[in-house]
This record gives sequence, structure tokens and C-alpha cells, in this order.
Amino acid sequence: MAVRSLLLGTSLLALAGLGCGGGDGDDPVSRGRGAYLANCVACHSTNPKLAGPLGPEVAGSSRELVEAKVLRNTYPPGYSPKRNTRAMVPLPHLEEKIEDIAAYLGSISPSSIP
Ligand code: HEC
Repeated sequence: MAVRSLLLGTSLLALAGLGCGGGDGDDPVSRGRGAYLANCVACHSTNPKLAGPLGPEVAGSSRELVEAKVLRNTYPPGYSPKRNTRAMVPLPHLEEKIEDIAAYLGSISPSSIP
């Protein structure tokens, strides 16, 4: 039941982000979700609102943060990191996916119920 409402909530958020239907996987949020699941969940949780085995929760991350962290393992100026480790590896080959990953993470409100 909880999983069901999570899935429903996620697709509603995706639709809201789009402004119209779709849901066929060829929009930034869906592509970003695919890229996140393919590249990030070894360390972050499959549910970006939760902490993963190594990395913290990343729901709601800004585009600037995603770009700095994923491409360079740095943070935007003035940003207070959730953790002060430097255990994440930069993944510069994902440059073309940054926009989509940021759209996906930005579509998820960190404060809503997981
Ligand atoms: C090798 C494990 C690993 C992988 C793979 C990884 N991360 Fe991380 N990530 C971390 C860890 C650990 C942190 C905490 C800071 C640190 O130690 O670098 C982090 C921090 C972050 C942060 C900063 C959170 C904050 O607000 O302080 C973001 C954003 C992030 N990761 C996004 C991603 C995305 C997007 C991907 C996939 C493209 C990804 N990470 C892949 C381990 C990983």
C-alpha cells in the first residue's frame, strides 16, 4: 500500500513537472530517473528522499548542486554540504545527463513523506 501511493505520488509529481501527459519515458524527469537509477544508486538510495548505503538523500537538489557534485565532486559557492566527507566519485561522462538528473531530483520534494 505504501509502495503504491509512493508510485502514484511519483508519477503525479512527474506529470505536474511536465504540465501535461506523456509518461512514456521520453521527458526530462523520466530520463533523469533512468540515469539516476543507472548511475547513482550504488551509493544513494533508489528513493532520493532517503539516505543510501553511502550517500545522503538528494531529493530536491538544485541543478547547480547536481552539476558541481556529479561533474567535479565540488559544491556551489556558499552551499553547506549534508556530509563533509569526499567519498563521492566525480562522474564527468554524465555531463549530457545533468539536466535530466536535476529535473528528476528537483521534481521530488525532500520534505514530503517518503
Ligand atoms: C561512489 C558512491 C557514489 C556515487 C556513485 C554517487 N554518489 Fe552522490 N554522494 C556520495 C557521497 C558519499 C556523498 C556525501 C558527500 C561525499 O562524501 O562526497 C554524496 C553526495 C551527493 C550530493 C550532495 C548532497 C548534499 O546536499 O550535500 C549530491 C547532489 C549527489 N551526491 C548526487 C549524486 C548523483 C546525481 C549521482 C549519480 C549521477 C551520485 N551522487 C553518485 C556517494 C556517491
